[in-house]
Amino acid sequence: MKDHPILKAARGEKTDYTPVWIMRQAGRYSAKYREIRAKAGSFMDLCRNPELAAEVTLLPIEEIGVDAAILFSDIFVPVEKMGINIEFVSGKGPVLSPVVRTVEDVKNLSIPVPEDDLSYVLETIKIIKDHLTDRPLIGFSGAPFTLASYILEGGSTKDYRAAKTTMWNNSELWQALMDKLTVVVTEYLSSQIKAGVDLVQIFDSWMGVLSAEDYEKYVFPHTKKIVDILKERHPDTPIIHFGVNSSHLIEVNNLLDVDVIGLDWRTEIPFALGRTDKSIQGNLDPVALFADEKVIEEKVRKIVIEGLRARGHIFNLGHGILPQTDPEKAKFLVETVHRISREVR
Ligand code: CP3
Repeated sequence: MKDHPILKAARGEKTDYTPVWIMRQAGRYSAKYREIRAKAGSFMDLCRNPELAAEVTLLPIEEIGVDAAILFSDIFVPVEKMGINIEFVSGKGPVLSPVVRTVEDVKNLSIPVPEDDLSYVLETIKIIKDHLTDRPLIGFSGAPFTLASYILEGGSTKDYRAAKTTMWNNSELWQALMDKLTVVVTEYLSSQIKAGVDLVQIFDSWMGVLSAEDYEKYVFPHTKKIVDILKERHPDTPIIHFGVNSSHLIEVNNLLDVDVIGLDWRTEIPFALGRTDKSIQGNLDPVALFADEKVIEEKVRKIVIEGLRARGHIFNLGHGILPQTDPEKAKFLVETVHRISREVR
């Protein structure tokens, strides 16, 4: 397993082809996923069911031939165990309650013990690892800022008003919440690694809404702490750091001891290569999978060739695959990345 192309690319070693996986690869675009999801009940029920979550995790390996599986779960899974109720309301997205507003509210949040409170996630990992012997399993967590934004807003937001004003006006509350989330995320990821995941991705999906100055001051130290502790405890487990719309943060994130920087489609790979010496993950626009095959092929070729200039490259979409995507196009993408990346080496 140590020599699988994804792990080699993460470490910056040469590979025979560019490995590929897709964010949200086990999701609604797959008919089989929708069938299993209907059987499970709600989305969170599916996350809590180790047998079904493992089955769903493995689907894209067979259906589209990706080089790695990513644990089927959600960034809200540990948040729920902090004592916050999560509901997915159609047309509105996630709704979190109660909304955190005071230092006292933060004090009332629990720090889940993964081995007890999240044992179903660790059980899911063990089942997957029993079946998946030839490819890596990716674990993940949301990062403190992205989680804090939902906890303070109570759901999705366009302007991040609650998160930003808390950050600026109420440093005691911000610090208390970020400190707590830092512990939660560190222990959650560490437990996933102990249970068997081969690499982890930290989703700080919304960090790009912050200026570089605010990010450096209010967010970066927390992510750095998580990464430093993980690297000390698990030096051989690669870490991917990902956020959308965050090309202005690449230089500061290059100071993290992570192995891979994930890019969305807005950031050109050469732009990133001037600003980071890490391996690169990404970054085809998810909407490209609705274009003609010829277009997909051209875009893949460009990304693969640019990726060869990085110390290592893991192909991915720039964000999650859209639910309306034709599964055949996802399969075509994986085949095309494999074929073209062998040709151009
Ligand atoms: O890449 C993966 O497949 C790993 C699993 C994963 C999911 N969501 C599965 C999922 C990961 C890493 C996430 C990330 C996530 N989840 C974020 C970070 C932002 C991002 O997209 O990068 C956030 C904010 C969430 C919370 C969440 N979960 C939202 C906003 C939604 C969509 C809600 C809606 O109304 O559509 C979900 C649902 C979700 N998470 C699905 C999947 C496969 C769809 C589940 C379903 O309805 O069957």
